[in-house]
Amino acid sequence: MRISTDNSPLLILRGEIVHFIDDPLACGARAYVHFPDGLLLVRDGHVLNCGPAAELEPNLPVDARRVGCSGKLILPGFIDTHTHCAQTEIIASHSEQLTVWLEKYAWPAETRHADPAYAAAGARFFCDQLLRHGTTTAMVFTTVHPACTEALFEAAFARRMRMIAGKVLMDRNCPEPLRDTPTGGDTQSRVLIEKWHGRGRLAYAVTPRFAPTSTEEQMHRAGRLFGEIPGLYLQTHLAEQRTEVAWAMRLYPGARSYLDIYERFHQLGERSVFAHCIWLDDEDRRRMAARGASMSFCPTSNLFLGSGLFDLGRARDFDLHVGLGSDIGAGTSFSMLQTLNEAYKVLRLTGQTLTPEAGFYLATLGGARALHLDMHIGNFLPGREADFIVLDPRCTPLLEARTSRATTFAERLFALMMLGDDRCVAATYVLGEPVFQRDVSAPPLAVLH
Ligand code: GUN
Ligand code: ZN
Repeated sequence: MRISTDNSPLLILRGEIVHFIDDPLACGARAYVHFPDGLLLVRDGHVLNCGPAAELEPNLPVDARRVGCSGKLILPGFIDTHTHCAQTEIIASHSEQLTVWLEKYAWPAETRHADPAYAAAGARFFCDQLLRHGTTTAMVFTTVHPACTEALFEAAFARRMRMIAGKVLMDRNCPEPLRDTPTGGDTQSRVLIEKWHGRGRLAYAVTPRFAPTSTEEQMHRAGRLFGEIPGLYLQTHLAEQRTEVAWAMRLYPGARSYLDIYERFHQLGERSVFAHCIWLDDEDRRRMAARGASMSFCPTSNLFLGSGLFDLGRARDFDLHVGLGSDIGAGTSFSMLQTLNEAYKVLRLTGQTLTPEAGFYLATLGGARALHLDMHIGNFLPGREADFIVLDPRCTPLLEARTSRATTFAERLFALMMLGDDRCVAATYVLGEPVFQRDVSAPPLAVLH
């Protein structure tokens, strides 16, 4: 292929490259493309091409901007399908079960985000943490305050990140400063949608926190809003802990199951993303699959709060879309590598496993599919948005020792997902521009002209 040089500058990255074009559990090794010495060509913030260096190199213009990534692994940016920006500051807070943790830590932290300046500083820190951990897209709960939602959208917009977020709807069973009303929450959501939904790379998610903290009136309005505006998402929590399920069932007598509460209020749809999904039955899974809803698997949070073991195999049996979620701040790491580490262990406890290929699929294209964004992000097919990361598989002495003993690519990927964290992220790019570089003393992203 001949690359023309007549329009905007071409960026060329050379290194080991891997990206997924399908689910390895469905089509094995055909699901991913791996170039031990590859080139990623980027123009106008989008992928122009990706392939073996030996094949592409002879036809490239000499004046392109080049970044050498020898010894590094280039892959699409990670996708976090469930997290809370206002809970960054309470990560790693010692606690017991969900409701105690909410009352002791989450709600006080979210209350502090009523202050717009505080929320803005928190949103900037949150976005920068995502980027330094290699996450370029996230689906995010803010707080009940519109100012906090504004702050997150502002921060993501400034960084040109693809982000989905929404103001929390919560009108009962929570502290008074965090309580909205059915009409107030609805109006505030509509104002935010008008301003942010579809602006740049941003999208809005109607965000009823979970059924126990919304009245029937609020649930009704949330479902109506979700169905009213094209492209809107809906995000909420579902079946995280057994006591939470029992609580929801007491509050909504007559519901067949916890999922059924959301379904009754028209919140179960193609763009609904449900976090946790641990205590479900097969009828719930069947209904979620029939409606095209997605699940967010949040292993670090589920282990931290002792919530239970997500059944990925069962979700797969129903062809459900599943992405990975950090669920900060009940989750214990922003790193999708650390999240994969714990996902692997959760699956081992249920007699299942997670191959490194399946793991990296979940963290990239799998997440994009769960968020219905796979036409934009998640791999390096031509035309995709150039959000990508450069990982250093030898960034710590231990990784160096383990990687040097590895004989296969899968083994090296597995070492990364078990031992890796933000230290492995050498650089993060959004729309083809560097937004994070670990070694700030190095020349800017080792650009070689
Ligand atoms: N369920 C309702 N709210 C929350 C939250 O903030 N974190 C978690 N992990 N579960 C929830
Ligand atoms: Zn959550």
